[in-house]
Amino acid sequence: MENLKTYRSWQLIKKGKASEAFEQISQTANPLKEGMLRIRVHAFGLNYADVLSRKGLYNDAPTFPFVPGYEVAGEVIDIGKGLDAYWLGKRVLAFTKFGGYSEVLDSSPQVTVEIPKDYSFAEATALGTQYTTAWCLCREWTKVQAKDKVVILSAAGGVGQALISFLKPLGTELYLGSRSKEKAEALAQEHGAYPLVYSLKRPWYTGMPPEIKADVVFDPIGGASVGKGIKHLAPGGRILSYGVAMRSEKLSFLRDVSMLLGFGLHHPISLLLGSKSLLTLNMLRIAEQRPDLLGSWMQKVVQEASRSDFPKPKVHTFAWKQLPEAHEFLASGKSMGKLAVDCIGV
Ligand SMILES: NC(=O)c1ccc[n+]([C@@H]2O[C@H](COP(=O)([O-])OP(=O)(O)OC[C@H]3O[C@@H](n4cnc5c(N)ncnc54)[C@H](OP(=O)(O)O)[C@@H]3O)[C@@H](O)[C@H]2O)c1
Repeated sequence: MENLKTYRSWQLIKKGKASEAFEQISQTANPLKEGMLRIRVHAFGLNYADVLSRKGLYNDAPTFPFVPGYEVAGEVIDIGKGLDAYWLGKRVLAFTKFGGYSEVLDSSPQVTVEIPKDYSFAEATALGTQYTTAWCLCREWTKVQAKDKVVILSAAGGVGQALISFLKPLGTELYLGSRSKEKAEALAQEHGAYPLVYSLKRPWYTGMPPEIKADVVFDPIGGASVGKGIKHLAPGGRILSYGVAMRSEKLSFLRDVSMLLGFGLHHPISLLLGSKSLLTLNMLRIAEQRPDLLGSWMQKVVQEASRSDFPKPKVHTFAWKQLPEAHEFLASGKSMGKLAVDCIGV
């Protein structure tokens, strides 16, 4: 079996255009630590947070230079002391707090799972951050019921697609949101749902009459979008806030203040009187503090994805050298589903 002593990584050296912000580096593999798995990465996934990091807008990012990346899929090529030889040669998916844009990654078995047999490595990357986030949101943090009216904003993105896959079989009434009318309509048609076009400038989502109240809103936009979502929840309704995509345009003090004010002030009493709930999720905090929990969700996602009737994630795969192109495509908002980079080849 291949045992890489040196390997390539894509490092983010500064903020700016992807063609200038990234450089390829060669790294020497350190001795493998006790209890760790060494993975020959076949594909790594891109996430929207990577774009925010490149723009210098991601609070959790390390200082430059650093290797971004939250998930890899590949083969276990070595095991640290104390681990079962069972792992050797296994096709796995691993979550990592940065460092994923690499040909080799050392990972804890706690956040490493075997990938479904009929999944390619690139397809498996989608099950990492995006599907696991969606799983936590709709199966762990809240219980979505049949006939619930559910709003999914950024429905064309990776997390959005995963939420649709988990919720559609329950018979929920889905309102699928995008800033683009064309995207929203295409999604609605594909999934037998309602198209919902949203803009922070409008008081409500176009496509959902104001008298209709939502039971669950999944919101990765943040700011006024959350304030708006809370207002339009039905009694018993929940909004899950898990991102601030609206911050991705450019950094400005006024924009940030307006974003923070947009969230609104939601006193527990006013939420209690309306019987509404606001839930949040930050996967990095979970990964740091509760890797056991994260690993258990990854296991459940893989189990669900192994079902023969589960729709495979849509994946757009780029070659290793096309990483800057892939990044700009993700930033453009025109992509659908998961973007992955193939690490075998140039
Ligand atoms: N909290 C967590 O732990 C966690 C975990 C994973 C992801 N997230 C967050 O969830 C969001 C979606 O992630 P993803 O992986 O599904 O991303 P994705 O596949 O890249 O999808 C992102 C979507 O966001 C929308 N968008 C882009 N820029 C925007 C802007 N300036 N204002 C409003 N909408 C914008 C676009 O949708 P339309 O053009 O169709 O509107 C785009 O398709 C991201 O913000 C990400 O950071 C959070």
